[in-house]
Amino acid sequence: MTSLFEELQPAATDEIQTTRVDIKINGESKAAQIEPRLLLAHLIRNGFRLTGTHTGCDTTNCGACTVLMDGAPVKSCTVFAVQANGREVMTVEGMATASELHPIQEGFKDEHGLQCGFCTPGMMMSAKALLDENPNPTEDEVRWALSGNLCRCTGYQNIVKAVLWAAAKMRGDADPAAAVASMGAAPEAAAPAPGAQEEAKEESAEQSEERSDESAIAEDTGGDA
Ligand code: FES
Ligand code: FES
Repeated sequence: MTSLFEELQPAATDEIQTTRVDIKINGESKAAQIEPRLLLAHLIRNGFRLTGTHTGCDTTNCGACTVLMDGAPVKSCTVFAVQANGREVMTVEGMATASELHPIQEGFKDEHGLQCGFCTPGMMMSAKALLDENPNPTEDEVRWALSGNLCRCTGYQNIVKAVLWAAAKMRGDADPAAAVASMGAAPEAAAPAPGAQEEAKEESAEQSEERSDESAIAEDTGGDA
C-alpha cells in the first residue's frame, strides 16, 4: 500500500481522518490511505511517484495534469483522489511498452510536437482519448479535443500534426507523414467561374478604350495625358 502519510509529521496523522482508496493505475492495482480532500494529481505524483503527470496551474486551466479515468480524459487537479476509488486510471507512464513507444509518442517525436515538454503528457492523454473514440479525426476535431490543454512553446501546429501522424499510424497507414503533409496548406486557387474569363477580357478591352479616349482629349487640349 502507498501511504501519503509517510510524508506527514507523526503527530498530525492521529488527528487527520483518512480513508482507503483502491485504484488500478496503468494496469497495476494500488491502494493508499489518504485524506478525503487529497487531489488525484497529488496522489499520482506524490503518493504513487508517477511524476509524468504535471501540474501547471492547479486551477483546471492548463491541462498538464490530464489523465484518463475509465478511458475519459480528466484534469486530475480537479478530481479528488477518493473519486478514483475502484476506477482505472492511465497516466503517460502507461503508454509505452518496455520496448516500444506508443504511436502518439512516436508522432510527437517525428513531428516535433514538443519543446520544453511540460504540456506534453497532458496533450498525449487528451490525444489518446480522442483517437480511442475517433481513429480518423479531422484537423478541426484534433484542435477541439486539445482545446483544454495549453502549450506555451509550440504554437500548437506541430502538436496537431503529431496527433494526425499518430492517427494515421494507428490506422496502419504505410506513410503517416503523408497524412499531415497537406495540413495547413493554402487552399488551391479556386477555378474561375464559367464565363468569368470572357467577362474579364471584355472589361479590360473597355478600360483600354477609355484610356485611349482620355489620351486623345489630352492631345486636343494640349494637356498632359
Ligand atoms: S494543473 Fe490541472 S489543469 Fe493545470
Ligand atoms: S512544449 Fe512547452 S509548454 Fe508545450
